[in-house]
Amino acid sequence: MTKVAVVGAGQTRYGALQEGGRALFAEAVKAALVTVDRGMAPGEIEEGWIGSVGSGGWQLGNLAALAGEEAGMAGAPMHRVENACASSGFAFRNAYLAVRSGAVEVALAGGVEKMTDLSGVHQRYWLGVSGETEWERLAGLTFAGVYGLIASRHMKEFGTTREDLAHVAVKNHRNGAKNPVAHFRKEITMDDAMNAPPVSEPLHLYDCCPVSDGASAVVLVSEKVVGKYTDSPVWVRGSGAATDLLAVHQRESLTSLRASAVAGKTAMREAVVGHRDIHLAEMHDCFTIAELVAMEDLGFAPKGGAGRMVRNGETEIGGRLPVNPSGGLKSKGHPLGATGTGQICEIFKQLRGKAEKGREVKGAEVALAHNVGGSGATCAVHVLGV
Ligand code: COA
Repeated sequence: MTKVAVVGAGQTRYGALQEGGRALFAEAVKAALVTVDRGMAPGEIEEGWIGSVGSGGWQLGNLAALAGEEAGMAGAPMHRVENACASSGFAFRNAYLAVRSGAVEVALAGGVEKMTDLSGVHQRYWLGVSGETEWERLAGLTFAGVYGLIASRHMKEFGTTREDLAHVAVKNHRNGAKNPVAHFRKEITMDDAMNAPPVSEPLHLYDCCPVSDGASAVVLVSEKVVGKYTDSPVWVRGSGAATDLLAVHQRESLTSLRASAVAGKTAMREAVVGHRDIHLAEMHDCFTIAELVAMEDLGFAPKGGAGRMVRNGETEIGGRLPVNPSGGLKSKGHPLGATGTGQICEIFKQLRGKAEKGREVKGAEVALAHNVGGSGATCAVHVLGV
């Protein structure tokens, strides 16, 4: 099997944007192709995978064909991947496996979501469809509700505090403030986070990711053709993916996402790396508690120990393991289907030393991307390195 490299990665800004889904995806693909050192035309892409939940139903059927057409790839086989908020993490995995197997030499993975033109009620509906329907969604359990339960249980079992959660929010807003593509480009204080209005106790406004529009795209190629495109590839070293029971109430534990643990272990084993070899991580912080749980599930912190790491500044840029130098979902934003490949865009930038001043992880050579679907029924983890 061949080695696989990322040779281009680009995204739109995230936020409440004017453009529709078609234009956003075309912009992301254009931005990705611009970063290919020796250039690449859309027609050189042999096959593509596009993550989208289809929020708002702007194009539920045949979305991949339309998005591909808009980006200049009409004629190429295109697939829509729907795995909730992990849609493009899985799109990336599909593209990686296709190149790795030798089926294609050049593949595209990306994602797109258009959410902010929906009313609040419709936003909640489109977010909710990725949760278990019969016993949870129709009983009124939102994702903020699910992660509120996870946070409450984590606090009870391990003594995690609201201050620990606030530290995550303050850090991610600080990083996002320096990221030109972030939804929120403003720093917040501990007081802001602690005194924000409640959303689902113990989670308050700054513990939640926003509702965002956006698109992202990544180009993957085989080792055979990599030299045609760049001398500075970012190699995909390992890929792991897993699923878990969809219904949160049926799981053994509320304080761990099993799919994260399995996907992380698989990706790191394939990459042949240990925790100390990872120089930065983009983790799926849809709610602040999710970042702490991810650090523990992936083995970067002992169970119940992530709060202490964040409090001690170990996950800051410049710390032992910078987590979410992009600002994460919390501050960079969370356009569901675009988030997974958006994380790869950040890692591509960081590993090539192109991140904006003040938020660079200097000397980073190996990074991990962790993308979770909804309340954790799906998870894709990738390890990349230069
Ligand atoms: N973080 C920080 N500020 C936020 C925010 C967030 N997550 N969401 C909204 N805001 C700000 C807005 O910018 C606005 O600020 P302004 O008054 O200065 O303009 C203000 O809060 C009110 O915005 P509004 O859009 O009316 O907020 P809302 O109350 O309708 O929604 C949430 C807030 C947290 C409920 C909403 O962002 C949400 O549902 N987030 C979670 C999304 C989700 O579940 N994704 C899937 C994860 S699995």
